[in-house]
Amino acid sequence: MGMGLMEQMPPQQAQAKTPAAPGGPYDLAVVGAGPGGYVAAIRAGQLGLRTIVIEEGKLGGVCLNVGCIPSKAIISAAKDYKHALHGAEKGLTFADPIIEMPKLVKWKQSVVEKLTSGVAGLLKANKVEVVQGRATVTGATTLDVVGPGGKRTISAKHILLATGSSTIEIPGFRFDEKRVVSSTGALELQEVPKHLVVIGGGVIGLELGCAYANLGSKVTVVEMMDQLVPGVDAEVAKGLERILKRRKFDLHLGARAKEAKVSPTGVKVTFEVKGAEQTLDADVVLVSVGRRPNTKGLGLEKVGVKVDERGFVPTDLQKRSNVPSIFAIGDITHGPMLAHKASKEGIVAAETISASLKGEKNGAAADFATIPGVIFTDPEIATAGLTEAAAKAAGFDVKVGTFNVGGLGRALASGETDGFYKVIGDKKSDRLLGVHILGPGASDLITEAVLALEMGATVEDLAMTVHPHPTLSEGLMEAAEALHGRAIHAVNRT
Ligand code: NAI
Repeated sequence: MGMGLMEQMPPQQAQAKTPAAPGGPYDLAVVGAGPGGYVAAIRAGQLGLRTIVIEEGKLGGVCLNVGCIPSKAIISAAKDYKHALHGAEKGLTFADPIIEMPKLVKWKQSVVEKLTSGVAGLLKANKVEVVQGRATVTGATTLDVVGPGGKRTISAKHILLATGSSTIEIPGFRFDEKRVVSSTGALELQEVPKHLVVIGGGVIGLELGCAYANLGSKVTVVEMMDQLVPGVDAEVAKGLERILKRRKFDLHLGARAKEAKVSPTGVKVTFEVKGAEQTLDADVVLVSVGRRPNTKGLGLEKVGVKVDERGFVPTDLQKRSNVPSIFAIGDITHGPMLAHKASKEGIVAAETISASLKGEKNGAAADFATIPGVIFTDPEIATAGLTEAAAKAAGFDVKVGTFNVGGLGRALASGETDGFYKVIGDKKSDRLLGVHILGPGASDLITEAVLALEMGATVEDLAMTVHPHPTLSEGLMEAAEALHGRAIHAVNRT
């Protein structure tokens, strides 16, 4: 809930009544202009804070430049290609569609540029200064910035660290971004690989794996754990596994990647399953085994900002570190590494800093009931709240309702019928605990569940809400009804 608790929180200690006069120290220096940092800076600008953002790369960070946005451009084009290939069933026969990867990559880049220039415009409109360079924290209220414009010292009443995360490189798999690629290289391929091996069956590996499968690649996944997308509700992960197998993905679970040997014609990948080594010949290997927080080399040790053993900065609910003038948000703090989590935390931090400077009461807090997760596989996965296992572990008397995507008229009419909806509730109170969707449009459908969870809704609330027909959202209502043994368009199990 977070944002609506204004009255309940104790007032912050006043540090200054008005924002700094021009020429004086900044009220806020934000390090990093990803979806955490730039959003925080815009909100700070709206609140009248004299704000500067320091970015060593490009505005928009990983998400806009080499992550969320460009990957979605490739993913959507790959789906268009798939639909064109399979139109015959609907009576639509096209000439053989042709993939021109250089053109696709160029189009993807044009999407990125539109968005990053939009961010630049918004920062400017909100009177946020932007400086290019690498920042090092030199004191509780000072930073050094080294960039194309030389070295500059910045003094700010508050510092907000939003430096994000970097791809983890594993021994034996050195990125050359041609044959052995991170997600960044995977978005720049100039040819569709005939065989793509993905190391790590997590979010990035499966999103890009599905995109390239739709573009015609044979895809092999090497995943260390016994489940794809570890952390996602086991039934949903299993459902995706079944769909991918049917689409001829080669899935190796419980498999540990060992080495990639690049040759002029390809790359040989070695991995180990239950002590036995296996090798595969691939055109490209994508390594997506997780990301680590960018907290090294920022000078944090010197100024006494606590960093835990895994490199994360612990903060309170208002995103303040142990040094009162220094805040941290997004991937360098605990919780899922997700853009929307970072953005929300950026708003919380900016509002907290503003209230603190103006001596106002402040209720901003990052105490969200749920942070939704979306995986843009084909079909998509979207989750909100507890998984079934987590709900049981938390001691709830769990009840589950499911509904198949194939039971929806709208899904049938659009020819996308894989997947299911799963609603988890507490048997005694009927409180809604979690919603998990595997299916088309899951990324947009989940928001209803997030709102329901934030508002403390019951499963009955979800079931009683009139959902428009014919839409994919009816699946949520039907799954909620199924939990009570009352689904209309399915034979109820209970
Ligand atoms: P991930 O944590 O989702 O998946 C990494 C996978 O690699 C895990 O399943 C892990 O068990 C496996 N693994 C680790 N070491 C291995 C090894 N040596 N051999 C085989 N498998 C191994 O990390 P991923 O996909 O790299 O994504 C990084 C972050 O970016 C995630 O936190 C994710 O939330 C975020 N992200 C979010 C997106 C979204 O919200 N749609 C899209 C892309 C990334």
